[in-house]
Amino acid sequence: ERVLFVASEGVPFVKTGGLADVIGSLPQALQAHEELEVRVMLPYYDEIGEEWQEKMEYLTTYDVQVGWRKQQAALYTLTHENCVYYFISNDYYFSRKGIYGYYDDGERFVFFSHAVITALPLLDFTPDVLHAHDWQAGLAVLLAKVMQPLPNLKTVFTIHNLKYQGLMPTDVYEDFFQIDRGHLAGMEWDGMINSLKAALFHADKITTVSPTYAEEIKEPYYGEGLHQMIREREADVIGILNGIDTTEYHPLTDPHLPINYRTARSKKLGNRELLQEEIGFTYHPDRPLYVMVTRLVEQKGLHLVQRIIDDFLQKDIQFLVLGTGEQEFEDYFTYLEGAYPDKVKTLLTFSEQLARRIYASADFLLMPSKFEPCGLSQLIALQYRTVPIVRETGGLKDTVTAFNKETGEGNGFSFTNYNAHELLHVLDYSLEIYRDTEKWKQLIKNVNKGAYTWKESAKQYKELYKDIVSPTNQLNE
Ligand code: GLC
Repeated sequence: ERVLFVASEGVPFVKTGGLADVIGSLPQALQAHEELEVRVMLPYYDEIGEEWQEKMEYLTTYDVQVGWRKQQAALYTLTHENCVYYFISNDYYFSRKGIYGYYDDGERFVFFSHAVITALPLLDFTPDVLHAHDWQAGLAVLLAKVMQPLPNLKTVFTIHNLKYQGLMPTDVYEDFFQIDRGHLAGMEWDGMINSLKAALFHADKITTVSPTYAEEIKEPYYGEGLHQMIREREADVIGILNGIDTTEYHPLTDPHLPINYRTARSKKLGNRELLQEEIGFTYHPDRPLYVMVTRLVEQKGLHLVQRIIDDFLQKDIQFLVLGTGEQEFEDYFTYLEGAYPDKVKTLLTFSEQLARRIYASADFLLMPSKFEPCGLSQLIALQYRTVPIVRETGGLKDTVTAFNKETGEGNGFSFTNYNAHELLHVLDYSLEIYRDTEKWKQLIKNVNKGAYTWKESAKQYKELYKDIVSPTNQLNE
């Protein structure tokens, strides 16, 4: 099968979150299977580094009809690690600082979706499947179904996060779509045009990034208002766990690390000493280091941390936060560093290099998310021999098993309810195990055994594509 990924971000070109990591690594994993060819289509943002822009080859400029307006897009391409990428350029929509957060984001991705669909017949590649990711590409699914740019084109839509849905008032319908007004019903939710719902309505198959999240979103608590819609499509919804690129994320070869290692704790400590010296955070080899590498948003369970961290900081530990996000949390962690300068460090920035060095230096990664479709940080942490402490939700539940001190099984720590005292309790327990040499050794042994690759998941996507492109008659089997 030939598959075209459509998304709004992808490593190594542009990244704001985990979506970009998936778009940057899943195609390669899929192409390890001879039967699959995967290409990727992204917007051409200014934000994309010059080193990539220089490598792009111009293909063509073409008209894109959006509602009653004729606009233009230019198409560029490059090949990176065996994968062909297409970039859709339009200065008005994409030559801006950053990637999202504009008042007209809805309109920008309405344009992008039309430009993707209009480009399909122009490519030297005829996809069997259009695989769209998250709301920014959701309307491409609708347009692929309604406008039929290619005969027999099938669609897959992956939910990386149900919370962001791409809402627009319905009165922009005529401005943005030249398709029959009857299609509004499939796009509308709660009186708004909802890009994500449009994709849920039209996609041949819907996937999300962990089996547990696939179940959770059928319930109001996790459904972000769309749980009924998910239930209606239940038969076509499947959860396929994300992996990480374990060649890219490997402590033995990671070029960002001052000291490479496979498992050795002494080398992790070496990395830590250098890191702490550099960021001005007193190094105490005898105190365990707890870290968070995260967008500072409510989803990540920061309200729970806020409630109990003072208590936990009475213990002999250190705590380091790396990330940017909502003011409320940036202010809070700044305050916390001021209150405990010897125990807390807050780095309100994001850098890939710092992130890698922090994963390498830490003993524990804290991820008490309110909801987590998959989560990649816990996988990276495990790969860097750092123990995850998570809430049992979504992909966190599917990848972290709580350490059981009786049986010696488990690769991390977890708690069930979105409750600050459950978090505090599990933090205390993690410290108890850390101080118990034998049990700690066993835990680290379990962490070292894990493999967090794309291998199994790539097989599942392969089956899924095969299923929709040439369905086997189930009754005859
Ligand atoms: C989103 C989700 C995260 C997931 C990532 C990649 O960022 O919040 O849980 O791992 O997408 O699928």
